[in-house]
Amino acid sequence: MQENIKMGVLGFSSSPSSFAWFFVVLSLVMNAAVLCNGGKTSRFIRKLEATGDMPLDSDVFQVPHGYNAPQQVHITQGDHVGKAVIVSWVTANEPGSNTVLYWSEGSEIKKKAEGKVHTYTYSNYTSGYIHHCTIRNLEDNTKYHYVIGIDHTMRKFWFITPPEVGPDVPYTFGLIGDLGQTFDSNKTLTHYEKNPQNGKTMLFVGDLSYADHYPNHDNVRWDTWGRFTERSVAYQPWIWTAGNHEIDFEPSIGETKPFKPYTHRYHVPYKASGSTAPFWYSIKRASAYIIVLSSYSAYGTYTPQYQWLQDELPKVNRKETPWLIVLMHSPWYNSYNYHYMEGETMRVMFESWFVQYKVDVVFSGHVHAYERSERISNIAYNITNGMCTPVNDQSAPVYITIGDGGNIEGLANNMTEPQPAYSAYREASFGHAMFDIKNRTHAYYSWHRNEDGYAVEADSMWFYNRYWHSVEDSTS
Ligand SMILES: *[C@@H]1O[C@H](CO)[C@@H](O)[C@H](O)[C@H]1NC(C)=O
Ligand SMILES: *[C@@H]1O[C@H](CO)[C@@H](O)[C@H](O)[C@H]1NC(C)=O
Ligand SMILES: *[C@@H]1O[C@H](CO)[C@@H](O)[C@H](O)[C@H]1NC(C)=O
Ligand SMILES: *[C@@H]1O[C@H](CO)[C@@H](O)[C@H](O)[C@H]1NC(C)=O
Ligand SMILES: *[C@@H]1O[C@H](CO)[C@@H](O)[C@H](O)[C@H]1NC(C)=O
Ligand SMILES: [Fe+2]
Repeated sequence: MQENIKMGVLGFSSSPSSFAWFFVVLSLVMNAAVLCNGGKTSRFIRKLEATGDMPLDSDVFQVPHGYNAPQQVHITQGDHVGKAVIVSWVTANEPGSNTVLYWSEGSEIKKKAEGKVHTYTYSNYTSGYIHHCTIRNLEDNTKYHYVIGIDHTMRKFWFITPPEVGPDVPYTFGLIGDLGQTFDSNKTLTHYEKNPQNGKTMLFVGDLSYADHYPNHDNVRWDTWGRFTERSVAYQPWIWTAGNHEIDFEPSIGETKPFKPYTHRYHVPYKASGSTAPFWYSIKRASAYIIVLSSYSAYGTYTPQYQWLQDELPKVNRKETPWLIVLMHSPWYNSYNYHYMEGETMRVMFESWFVQYKVDVVFSGHVHAYERSERISNIAYNITNGMCTPVNDQSAPVYITIGDGGNIEGLANNMTEPQPAYSAYREASFGHAMFDIKNRTHAYYSWHRNEDGYAVEADSMWFYNRYWHSVEDSTS
């Protein structure tokens, strides 16, 4: 039905002010077109049933051998510019060592960094010993080896630091959301790992373990998720966004502090960007400036997140970091019949800023499917003027929903019809994406569905940077 390509609705906002009445009529016609003529709805056929969570004795959940061996190893960026890394891990039996031993490849000099350890309880669950250690003053673009644990249970990993922040530094980000720990989740992660585009850092848009799916939010499933993802996140940073499945708010079992397991297990460098909470923060990495927002923390006027973002956006220097990327969990533009308009209140607060500061792209999750928007904005409405339809806007970001990691809740396949014109491509399949920055003007984006081979692109787009090369980059 909706395979048809959208009509020419672009450019109507540039109508000359003479012939005003003609253009009022024209824009009414065009608005009808905006409402009714979407981009492409893929009719790709796939199995819709969720594959359950992988059983506790699965290979991907195996505890490493040896008494108190470090497990659930994960890293993330540890400062604002990419010269520090936070290394985190869990020891099950006793606190053990907090030390990370590390050295750059080929170097004889081994350095040590000292971390901290803590535990937490959740209902009747008590966590293992969770360690976090920040390694600082790292060289750019360098491979580092690191070792944690002691004696016969030492475990060795490596990571590569990003090149120094600068406008033409090529860099490839991976994108996964709403991953969970099903057989499909494992497929998504495998496809990401085997994608020949070779993602260097993961932008994770929220909803990690789905432990809250279990009675008492059985936090054992946070541990299994940590062991499952270690094979990627021990070797490359994942940049974390908080989703609704991180809230773990359950007063009926005495758990009244939101985000308790998440904040104990996953640390982010929020203080480095002047944030006062780990749910919203920013980092620079290569040629990108990445702003992480929280759909589940207050964002109204005067709130800490609002104030932070208001102060943050003017600090972004596009001459240094041309690519301005925003991550959040709940999408602002979503044409599925799931979580419809849940992102609306945040959109009302922040969208005009995204247009003013020419955000290149916004990635979200939450809806368990894939969707890419046109460059559109919806900021003219003021309660009485009736101007409440998204319009083509070349200063606006592209909005991408990538909540299709493969969790236990299954696919969102019920879409609003007809496909709205703001929606360029939508498909209910599990998968991951890549955002491959080439230079200050060009980035190549691709989405890969799990049913295809590792290198196949089901959807793709050349992004033209909004600051350096702000020409039309629509694909329809
Ligand atoms: C916690 O309580 C649940 C339900 O009563 C039970 O199934 C589970 O085994 C308990 N877990 C621990 C660690 O005691
Ligand atoms: C998960 O994927 C990996 C890599 O493809 C594979 O070796 C492993 O057997 C899979 N495990 C499960 C439980 O599907
Ligand atoms: C609302 O928008 C209309 C049309 O753009 C404008 O004439 C009117 O003054 C606006 N109202 C307020 C309160 O800003
Ligand atoms: C799709 O969602 C709409 C709106 O929530 C609902 O009315 C409809 O029954 C759903 N269709 C299917 C096939 O579930
Ligand atoms: C930027 O990258 C694009 C795509 O690879 C290329 O076509 C273009 O020439 C590059 N620009 C410069 C200035 O190198
Ligand atoms: Fe979600």
